[in-house]
Amino acid sequence: MRSHIVGKVELDRARLQYDLEALASIPRVEEECDEVSSGYWKNLSLWNSSGEADDTMYRDIQGAAKPTAHAAKAPYLHELIQTVFDPKIVKMARARNLVDAMVIPHRDFIELNKDNDQYFRTFMVLEDNESAFHSDDDTVIHMRPGEIWYLDAAAPHSAVNFSSNSRQSLCVDFASKVLSQKIGSSPTNRSTGLP
Ligand SMILES: [Fe+2]
Repeated sequence: MRSHIVGKVELDRARLQYDLEALASIPRVEEECDEVSSGYWKNLSLWNSSGEADDTMYRDIQGAAKPTAHAAKAPYLHELIQTVFDPKIVKMARARNLVDAMVIPHRDFIELNKDNDQYFRTFMVLEDNESAFHSDDDTVIHMRPGEIWYLDAAAPHSAVNFSSNSRQSLCVDFASKVLSQKIGSSPTNRSTGLP
């Protein structure tokens, strides 16, 4: 299934700016799965399986992910995760940044030994950056702030930011075959209620 837009939110620029500055001031930690990137790639766990801020690993868990200390520093993003999405089924939420860097083509979730189509990843850029792109099979995508994209992370995909300007984003993961089939196959343009 190709990546596509599943919703759009009007971002509150002032509240977002507060969060972006707070997240930018947090030092980058070494990533567990860092072999696919070059340059500056930063991943901050806002919600994860352990609730530990330095834990950047995605894990299949029962129930919902737990907010970390990073989520407390980004109250607007924490609120978006709770209101735009269904917080009861969020498995992980990360603030990600890619600066003057590239993530080479790769596939995610393959190490989990499960049906890939049960994973449902959403991605929203938080800063406009004309030099930042994603690619998915034979398509190159330029995402705009507030657009919520379904990303087919189980298929080959890559990302790049050719500039030295920041490109922070919010990545929220779900695990549900029903959800994947229901929402992933029928693009919508809703502003709330995802998924
Ligand atoms: Fe990926």
